[in-house]
Amino acid sequence: MADSPISLAFPGCSQHSLALRINRQPYRLEVQAWVTLLDLLRDKLQLTGTKKGCDHGQCGACTVLVDGRRINACLTLAVMQDGRDITTVEGLAGLRDEEDEKGEKVDADSTAALHPLQQAFIAHDAFQCGYCTPGQLCSAVGLINEGHAHTPDEVRELMSGNVCRCGAYPQITQAVCEVALGARPGAAQRTAQQPVVIGTVPA
Ligand code: FES
Ligand code: FES
Repeated sequence: MADSPISLAFPGCSQHSLALRINRQPYRLEVQAWVTLLDLLRDKLQLTGTKKGCDHGQCGACTVLVDGRRINACLTLAVMQDGRDITTVEGLAGLRDEEDEKGEKVDADSTAALHPLQQAFIAHDAFQCGYCTPGQLCSAVGLINEGHAHTPDEVRELMSGNVCRCGAYPQITQAVCEVALGARPGAAQRTAQQPVVIGTVPA
């Protein structure tokens, strides 16, 4: 992909200039002050992998990474993120390419392999309709970056901002635990054995 900025201007008054790096591609944009990051991604840049569920910060479907930290894209204005590095689900596979397992830089174009979390979601069948999945994946990357989850219970708690209407929580937790907790003995197995209590909403 070319490394030259993509310039887009949208019709209307009160345009504000901002520069973003989205999925390693630089953009220069002119947007109205009231445009959310979510609407910019979906409606202006056609990055529709990021989903709009509630549009009120309650479901996590719109989760993206801003400078490596997870954020609800429906709750932030695009102009507030000027100069930031945005990663959406479309860019997750590329994250894996930036460093190999030894932490050495590798050619970003050398492989199109999925991110380990994407592979784990497939392996654990961690989705049904898939509508929540982009947000779940970005949120899980943010969770790993934060480094606060050391047990399946902590994974559940720290993923609790991401709602799955299909109820695929057990498989989602298994997939996230597999990557976030690594080869820690019994991590994924313990998750699989924990019962889902009817009437509660597990993370
Ligand atoms: S669409 Fe942003 S939290 Fe639901
Ligand atoms: S897989 Fe359908 S909402 Fe989560």
